[in-house]
Amino acid sequence: MNAEHIERSASGKIILCGEHSVVYGRPAIAVPVSTMRAYARIDPAPTGSGLQIHALDLQQKLTLKDAGNEHPLALGTRLVLEHLMATEPDAILTLRSDLPIASGLGSGASVAAAAARALGAALGTELSPDVISQIAYEVEKIHHGNPSGIDNTVIAWEKPVYFVRGTAPETFSIHTPFKLLIADSGIASSTRAAVAEVRGRWEAAPGYYNVVFNCIGAISKAAREAVEQGAIQTLGTLMNENHELLVKMGVSLPQLDNLTQAARRAGALGAKMTGSGHGGNIIALVEDTTTAAVKAALSSAGAPHIWETIVGQPDG
Ligand code: MEV
Repeated sequence: MNAEHIERSASGKIILCGEHSVVYGRPAIAVPVSTMRAYARIDPAPTGSGLQIHALDLQQKLTLKDAGNEHPLALGTRLVLEHLMATEPDAILTLRSDLPIASGLGSGASVAAAAARALGAALGTELSPDVISQIAYEVEKIHHGNPSGIDNTVIAWEKPVYFVRGTAPETFSIHTPFKLLIADSGIASSTRAAVAEVRGRWEAAPGYYNVVFNCIGAISKAAREAVEQGAIQTLGTLMNENHELLVKMGVSLPQLDNLTQAARRAGALGAKMTGSGHGGNIIALVEDTTTAAVKAALSSAGAPHIWETIVGQPDG
C-alpha cells in the first residue's frame, strides 16, 4: 500500500442511440462525458483498521469486512483485491461524483470504475480498461439485473463505442466535435425497473418489439456513420427518430417528451431521452448559434439542471 494518497476518476456516459434494444443484441453507440466524473481517493489508515469506504454523495460509511457482496462498492473492491491477489489494505476509500444518481448518465458504473482504478493504483497496478470494464459490469449487475455491458464499456475505455452485446466493443472516432446539452427531468428512475418492464412487453408481443428493436439498431448504425463523417444534421434526425421509438417502447414520460420538443422548437438539430427512461435526462444536439435559446427553452420546460458538453474533444 502506497504511503501517499492516490486519486483516480472515471467519466460519465451518454447513450447517443440504442438504449434498451442493446439489451437484445442490437447495436448502440455511446460516448463518454469527460467533464462529468466520479472521483475516488485512497488514504492510508492505521494498521489493522482494514478498508473503510466513504461514499460522500450517499452519506454512507462502511467497512469492507462488514459489508456483503450485495453492496456494489464492497463487491467492486473485493473483485479488485481478488484480481490482484492482494489482501485487504488498511485504507480509506472516499468516493464522490458530479453525476446525478439514477439519471441515465452512468453514475453507478463510473463510481465503480473510479474506485477500482484508485484501489488498483494504491496497490501498485494501473488496471487495464478491460479489467475495469469487467469489474464495473459485475457491479452493474447489482444495480441493473441484466445490463447489456454498454455503460461499463464506454466508461472503462473513455472513448466513443459501438457496442453489440456479446461481441468485442469497437471504438470509433468523431469526425467533427459536436455539442450536446444534457437536461435533467428532475425525476430519478430505476434502470432495473425499466429494463424489466421492457422485457415483460417484449415477452408479451415479441413480433412488435423485435421490429422496434431492429429499427433502433439500424438507427445506431446510421448514427455511427453520421458521427464518423461529421454529418451532424443527420445525427440530429436519427436522434429524433430514436426518441419516437423509445416512446413506442413505453419508456419515455410526458416530461421527457416535453423537454425534447422544447429543445427542437428552439432550434436543436435533434433531441432524445438518454438511458433507461422513466425519468433521468434528455440530450439535445445544438450548434453554437442555438445553444442559448435551447438552454432557455429547456429551463422554461422545467429542467432543473442543464449541462453542456462537447463530444469529440479531449476534454469534451
Ligand atoms: C442503461 O444505461 C442502458 C439500457 O440499455 C440498459 C443496458 O444497456 O444495460 C437501458
